Amino acid sequence: MINIAIDGPAGAGKSTIAKELAKRLNITYLDTGAMYRAVALKGLNLGVDVNDEAQVAAFLPSVDLDIRYKDGVQHVYLDGEDVSTAIREHRISRAASDVSRIPAVRLKLVEMQRDLASKYDSVLDGRDITSYVLPNANYKFFITASPEVRARRRLLELEEKGEKVDFSVLLEDIKQRDYNDSHRPFAPLTRTEDSVFIDTSDLSIDQVIETVLSYIKEK
Ligand code: DC
Repeated sequence: MINIAIDGPAGAGKSTIAKELAKRLNITYLDTGAMYRAVALKGLNLGVDVNDEAQVAAFLPSVDLDIRYKDGVQHVYLDGEDVSTAIREHRISRAASDVSRIPAVRLKLVEMQRDLASKYDSVLDGRDITSYVLPNANYKFFITASPEVRARRRLLELEEKGEKVDFSVLLEDIKQRDYNDSHRPFAPLTRTEDSVFIDTSDLSIDQVIETVLSYIKEK
């Protein structure tokens, strides 16, 4: 079994890189952030305070989450409904970061992630894959970029989908999420010593892919 683990902050380009890597290596891609987003969406739909651990723990057992692949593309099903598009809305990003601080949420999702990784050659991306979910992954990468570059990329992504958000709002949001994701007590975003560090601020997607592939071929 081959497992590739990729971590990094929001908007670093992890998912674009992981997706392309999965395609080239013909292995499964799991976007673990999408799972936290789905839990956040359910919370917002139910009108609960996603910061309140007790309220989130109360609805968590009823979260029916399923990951399916159509033509190699990951789809996230929440309670039987394909929510892959809905979870990309800007309002979900902050809520996902909030629910991800809650250990019960992490334990439920990490179990699903480890299960998939044990069954398929796969590349997983997230915040705690190299440190907590798959500490023994064959290959580990930490991918980042400056907050400004990441906010600019998110802006373009959202604009392509017709969502208008101010650059300054996105930048503030990215910084806030960086802080939240790396300061939570349980399985925070960290750069493990054995991860290959790649700063993508001045690199094209292709350059990053080539760098990652060169490490994989070398090892
Ligand atoms: O990668 P993303 O922006 O879709 O992730 C949304 C949030 O989910 C992120 O702010 C933190 C959380 N997350 C996490 O805590 N652990 C992961 N492995 C993936 C995402």
